[in-house]
Amino acid sequence: MKKVKVYPINKGFDLVCDEIAPDKSISHRCAIFSLLSDKSSVVNNFLEAEDTLASLNIAKELGAKVEKKAKGSYVITPPSKIQEPFNILDCGNAGTAMRLYMGLLSANEGSFVLSGDQYLRRRPMGRVAKPLREIGAKIDGREWGNKAPIHIRGSKLKAFKYHSPIDSAQVKSALILAGLFAEGKSYYKENLLSRDHTERILKGMGAEIQEVVKEDGIWLEITPLRKALKPLNIRVPADPSSGFFFAVAAAIVPDARVIIKDVTLNPTRIEAYKKLQEMGAKVEFIQKENIYEPIGDIEVTYNGKLKAIEVNKNIAWLIDELPALSIAMAVAEGESVVKNAKELRVKESDRINSVVTNLQKAGIWCEEFSDGYKIRGGILKNAIINSHGDHRIAMSFAIAGLLAQMEIEDIECVNTSFPNFFAILQKISEVEFEN
Ligand code: S3P
Repeated sequence: MKKVKVYPINKGFDLVCDEIAPDKSISHRCAIFSLLSDKSSVVNNFLEAEDTLASLNIAKELGAKVEKKAKGSYVITPPSKIQEPFNILDCGNAGTAMRLYMGLLSANEGSFVLSGDQYLRRRPMGRVAKPLREIGAKIDGREWGNKAPIHIRGSKLKAFKYHSPIDSAQVKSALILAGLFAEGKSYYKENLLSRDHTERILKGMGAEIQEVVKEDGIWLEITPLRKALKPLNIRVPADPSSGFFFAVAAAIVPDARVIIKDVTLNPTRIEAYKKLQEMGAKVEFIQKENIYEPIGDIEVTYNGKLKAIEVNKNIAWLIDELPALSIAMAVAEGESVVKNAKELRVKESDRINSVVTNLQKAGIWCEEFSDGYKIRGGILKNAIINSHGDHRIAMSFAIAGLLAQMEIEDIECVNTSFPNFFAILQKISEVEFEN
């Protein structure tokens, strides 16, 4: 397993970053939604990382023709009808791929087996399987369909009215995809708007998805497709979750500044930057365009020692950034608290445990709760970090390495979302790889 040592830096940096990985959530959706058109979709700046290439390969297995025109540029021509695949559909490490395809394939004729790596096979799929089964989907798998390998026998689905107990864009997207093929209008509700790329992109492709006010609140109304959707013509913006590692770097290293270029400024994705601002960093959002999503630059500048904060609401809007935000908390003045974040336990690793145990190794006092943690800001010490095969843990502690030497074990996982992460980090610090 590959390891990396990141050495501390003793001066600031000024990094204009136009190589942040393209957005992972949007790239998955481009690969999957291109199957809903009857014409070729054009996708530029597609994320060429393991997770999203898994979604693209699955689209191929289902009959799409995928032509690579240049780095990140693809033309995806859908089949006239989703084909029954010859192979197991391998989602790799990607929960998004597995859950979204579960929704889509439940409603399409054929037999489909979805599986993934050892980490994904441990993650809960019942949150999608259960509501889909209630409308007639034929889904089975380990633990009665809660764990992959998952088997789906595509069938006719009933319309639904589903109030989700969790604010999850993956659950919402799976149900929207199923709703597009159901027998009548379906309704979906969540307590906090989770990332809404699915609604934005599908509406852009011509799907009828809209918010409606009912006596019991605001629901998303999904009208079944009457015809194939328009093809996509999209340039994927940079991923704010990937950019956030460098935002934290700029917030904790004296005299540092970073500009993250052409990133989605979707309000459901930039909450962590607002938290960094609340901790005292200088953060500016500069919107430049609005195509499917608001897009622009984010500038983060060191502005003195950070202050502790409490994070207990709008959790879905910063769930992916909490590991990196925890590095900022580890060097802030005072005790920071994260609550209501039990979803962290079922990510690529149990991120509550991975953050707490690794910070403790780096000399930081932490307390673990069932739904979060408390971190007392202090001085980071050299440490050997276990990534638990989780890309965001590996990258967060690599950023901590800018202040104290971090040796991070098992770093191949970074390739799932941000293959050029270390190449960018090397512009500001010394990085040494070991096999
Ligand atoms: C994602 C949704 C979130 C997020 C994940 C990507 C998506 O997961 O953590 O990295 O693209 O829909 P949940 O829907 O499980 O909250």
